[in-house]
Parts: sequence; structure tokens; C-alpha cells
Amino acid sequence: SILDVVVNNSIDLDGFGACEGTLTCSTCHLIFNQADFDALPSKACDEELDMLDLAYDLCETSRLGCQII
Ligand code: FES
Repeated sequence: SILDVVVNNSIDLDGFGACEGTLTCSTCHLIFNQADFDALPSKACDEELDMLDLAYDLCETSRLGCQII
């Protein structure tokens, strides 16, 4: 996942991935441009959509980075 990329490369994004991918936070919220969003390999599941509803500045091309594999 994108969360794994951040963790495995010690990328310093303060607070990113607080729940370690268990879908209980929205700190891994990402906003893609439309072309990149359309090219993502999977769609958001219901659980991801529920958590995205809590994300700051939610938009049509939002996803949770821990759920993008
Ligand atoms: Fe918490 Fe993605 S890391 S929902």
C-alpha cells in the first residue's frame, strides 16, 4: 500500500498512518488528480468510504493511502 511505501522508506509525514492501516483513522487521506484517481488499481470498499467521510477536505478523488495496493 502507499502506507507501506511511506513506512518502509522512512518518509517523515507527521501523523500519517496513525492506525497502521486498520481503517480506524483518516490520517492517510490522499487527494489525487482525476487521471491518477482513475488509474488506481482498485475502488474504495464500503469501510474505506465510511472512514473517508471523516477525512478533512474530502473530495471526489479522495482515497485512504493504506487501502491502495
Ligand atoms: Fe488509518 Fe489508513 S492508516 S485509515
